Amino acid sequence: MPELTPVLDTDAIARKVDEVARQISSDYRNADLVIIGVLKGAFVFMADLIRRLDLSHVAVDFIRLASYGSQSNSSGHIRLLKNFEIDIEGKHVLIVEDILDTGWTLAFLKQHLSAYSPRSLKTCVLVDKRERRKVDVQAEYVCHVANEGFLVGYGLDYDENYRNLPGIFNLKL
Ligand code: XMP
Ligand code: MG
Repeated sequence: MPELTPVLDTDAIARKVDEVARQISSDYRNADLVIIGVLKGAFVFMADLIRRLDLSHVAVDFIRLASYGSQSNSSGHIRLLKNFEIDIEGKHVLIVEDILDTGWTLAFLKQHLSAYSPRSLKTCVLVDKRERRKVDVQAEYVCHVANEGFLVGYGLDYDENYRNLPGIFNLKL
């Protein structure tokens, strides 16, 4: 049986999301912002984050990627399944991603979005797993730093399960 160990409960998540929302609200004051969420993993985080932003001009869109890795590891082979639809040329763009791990996914996203000439491009991640980085990419906004293990819950899945859990857990298979 898979074993779930609590990592962050709902209160801890809310505190971290609040803090990052404060930073983003302060950095993008008076700016038009386009937030692009990476499906599916970021959908719960993004729903909470955008409702905590103290900004009046926020547009929201989504992009969906597939990676050819195993269930618990991504790979350098990333494919675009669904592109965003809003025009981002000349706009401030913030990518919202669930987990930054090897960095392959974020490197792909940055290159892909840069081609549309945004005015600025930054990244906000729920979890930054710094120990396994393979590509030199960073997120400007990080809710939580984790060093090891596979995380599920709060939108994060293992084989499409556990996304509905309100907290974040370490999954031992
Ligand atoms: P890379 O290695 O490309 O990985 O930076 C980022 C993508 O891999 C997925 N990922 C996880 N998904 N629990 C998950 O549910 C995890 O612990 C985990 N680690 C990596 C994630 O979807 C992210 O987009
Ligand atoms: Mg995933």
